[in-house]
Amino acid sequence: MGVSTVTQQQSNHQPSAAVAAFLRRPKQLWIDGTWVDSVSGRAIEVYDPATGRQIDSVQAGVAADVDRAVAAASAAFESAAWRGLRPADREALLWRLSDLVARDADILAELESLDNGKPVGLARMVDVNGAVEYLRYMAGWATKIHGRVIHPSFAGLPGAEITVNAVRDPVGVVGQIVPWNFPLLMAVWKLAPALAAGCTCVLKPAEQTSLTALYLAELVAEAGFPAGVVNVVTGLGHEAGAALVAHPDVAKIAFTGSTEVGKIIGRGCMDTMKRVSLELGGKSPVIVCADADLDKAIPGAAMAIFFNAGQVCTAGSRLYVDAKIYEPFMAGIAAFASGIKVGPGWAPDTQMGPLVSAEQQARVLSYIEIGKAEGGELLVGGEAQGDEGYFVKPTILANVNPAMRVVREEIFGPVVVAQKFATIDEAVKLANTSDYGLGASVWSEGLSTAHRIASRLQAGSVWVNCHNAIDPAVPFGGFKQSGLGREHGEEAINLHTEPKSIWYAV
Ligand code: NAI
Ligand code: MG
Repeated sequence: MGVSTVTQQQSNHQPSAAVAAFLRRPKQLWIDGTWVDSVSGRAIEVYDPATGRQIDSVQAGVAADVDRAVAAASAAFESAAWRGLRPADREALLWRLSDLVARDADILAELESLDNGKPVGLARMVDVNGAVEYLRYMAGWATKIHGRVIHPSFAGLPGAEITVNAVRDPVGVVGQIVPWNFPLLMAVWKLAPALAAGCTCVLKPAEQTSLTALYLAELVAEAGFPAGVVNVVTGLGHEAGAALVAHPDVAKIAFTGSTEVGKIIGRGCMDTMKRVSLELGGKSPVIVCADADLDKAIPGAAMAIFFNAGQVCTAGSRLYVDAKIYEPFMAGIAAFASGIKVGPGWAPDTQMGPLVSAEQQARVLSYIEIGKAEGGELLVGGEAQGDEGYFVKPTILANVNPAMRVVREEIFGPVVVAQKFATIDEAVKLANTSDYGLGASVWSEGLSTAHRIASRLQAGSVWVNCHNAIDPAVPFGGFKQSGLGREHGEEAINLHTEPKSIWYAV
């Protein structure tokens, strides 16, 4: 692949008319069903990760903007226009929103690809389709939230019969702080259960990738959600994000991002006893057993790390391979990694795009240097690609050990570290030697082997002969420092509702 040819094409590539028109529109904050300017008067520049060139800017919302958005969300939460809706009405609204996202799927996918760097086909299939399916799944929950009746034994008043209705109330205004790796999808993971439960929302997208959230705001309005039910405040984490966490009228924070910021947010939430769910970092192990089917395990382990350029919280970033198959396995995955077509998101043959930002590229490249200095053996990659954009080649560091920083810390890029193991006990011990516990995969054709390993792994999601499988119905979240709480399924509804016991003496 001629890098210079791609660079030439990158420079010449033009977005579609619809995306160009969206980019030309000045970006504002979406508050109470309308576009408004931030009081800050400051802008955040938006870059195309494939070229490093500025393509747009969004406004830097600050505490005063968050105040306005929370006031709108609080009023909407109490309004008849929202509170008066039947569960079936909320279900219909969520379905209408899903239909609008599906209608504009090509625009949203192109915009996401341009903003984040990911291949447009991946954005279409994973991010946009995932958002549509997520909205549809959660729509069904709106009509399935109910309590139970309890007849208590001890709380009797003389002569009265006591009945308790244990119900679940929507928690209130939810502050939603999301990252840049799956911008639209993460926004929808937060919005859909909150809306199904009857909450109202203030969404703060990541400062690197706010465009699809702003596009989504107008679709929410078009779907017919009352003004103020969903507000979008773009801005920096320590400004707009921190203001949401501190705001006394926000009842819950739902966060996805780094463990470092998750801890700050968790502590901040305690000041006003906010409910908080945290979906944080990971260093997910991939265990390849001697009886694995290498035709499946090699591409499977490769895509576990190189999917979305490794910018995935559950990325399979630690590879543990049985010593009996270590040589052929490593040769296979090295060949696979070198064959991955790295290029701009819009090019149809691109398999892996650039990283999201210059900062992330620098972070990942510096980890590769750290890993080499620590004694890791570079098998493939290890450097940037091309002279523009934030590309990093698929990288494998072998012969690592658990003391190394590249084994312990989340890199969040296309870098996998590999080590061999002799026994299953050793593999399990290595896998569990981590502050994180988000995902893990086991590759084995033996049901008993796979099950015995899976049952001992400390991870919220364990995959056997697959990796990164995620579904709206299946609980998702982390053990240990990978987070707090579980999203998806009924768990997501529980996160957005507050149990209440109503006592009747009759
Ligand atoms: P980050 O955790 O700083 O950013 C995620 C979100 O949190 C963004 O919307 C940001 O504006 C917001 N934020 C930042 N500081 C905040 C604060 N003090 N209060 C409230 N909100 C705040 O992640 P960043 O800096 O973009 O990436 C750094 C590393 O974090 C990555 O290299 C990766 O290891 C990890 N990360 C993990 C993600 C995941 O899905 N688990 C997603 C993004 C990053
Ligand atoms: Mg940060």
